[in-house]
Amino acid sequence: MQNIMRTNHKLSTYDHISQFNRPLIRWVGGKRLIVPKLLDLLPKTFGTYFEPMIGSGALFFSLRPKRAVLGDINPELINFYKVIKDNHDGFYRAVQKLRASKRNYYTMRVSKPVSPLGKAVRFFYLIRLSWNGLYRVNRDGEFNVPFGGRCPEDLIAIQVILNAADALRKARLVGGDFEKTTAIARAGDLVYLDPPYPKGAVADNGFDRYHKTKFTLDEHKRLFAHARRLANRGVYVLLTEAPTERIIGLYDGEFNIQLVKSQSLIAADCEFRGSVNEAVITSYKVIESIQE
Ligand SMILES: C[S@@+](CC[C@H](N)C(=O)[O-])C[C@H]1O[C@@H](n2cnc3c(N)ncnc32)[C@H](O)[C@@H]1O
Repeated sequence: MQNIMRTNHKLSTYDHISQFNRPLIRWVGGKRLIVPKLLDLLPKTFGTYFEPMIGSGALFFSLRPKRAVLGDINPELINFYKVIKDNHDGFYRAVQKLRASKRNYYTMRVSKPVSPLGKAVRFFYLIRLSWNGLYRVNRDGEFNVPFGGRCPEDLIAIQVILNAADALRKARLVGGDFEKTTAIARAGDLVYLDPPYPKGAVADNGFDRYHKTKFTLDEHKRLFAHARRLANRGVYVLLTEAPTERIIGLYDGEFNIQLVKSQSLIAADCEFRGSVNEAVITSYKVIESIQE
């Protein structure tokens, strides 16, 4: 196991980060609330930053690494980030023309744009106004979340888009499975893995509410085997996982595990809207540093 010095990213360090360096969207399982903790656990230096299950990219948009490879199994999400990266002007102009309303929401929901820009705008508009900010598709891949009842005047601040586009400029975006996205990670690179798992640590069967597939216990085992392979070739691996025995048991003994208190930002079930634990797992040892 590699030893590294703690970087001393404290909440105070995080404070100076612009309020606009934040995710563009809400996302189930988003890690915005534990970003300071995750920053605290990063290696002091690393090569390329890989985040193959990017979701809303809470850590990525705070960290803003110099070199990154980002991925997700959700093609709509990757298309959205590509549009922000390559055509943020066009995106903002299109979004500015839209008004939030229940009628517009359902019109947008049944629309089927074909251009990357049209798809990105539809994706963003629906997530911004859906019930609980939820992204969910049915078995045919059709978005099926009802209107959330909120009608914000502004759908998004231009500065958030500009900052996101700037961070994405240094990133390569790839669709598909986490194994494929991280296949080229080398010793000294950092891979952050944040798979779907149910809040409240109720079940290990991990129904994936983000996509039409499921992230089952077997998928968590496949993720573990992959994390182990990466760590064995000298890649720094950071994971956030469900704090259940069956999952933590996989990493126990080989990785460092700590439980971190968080809150569910989005929970379809009110029972899990409160405080929840996350298991934060590293392939390397974080040593307390005395530097300020
Ligand atoms: C918990 S979310 C990530 C949240 C993210 N860290 C954030 O702060 O918003 C998990 C993500 O994994 C993606 N995903 C699910 N299965 C995947 C797979 N096999 N390969 C890559 N991404 C996958 C989902 O689409 C989802 O965006």
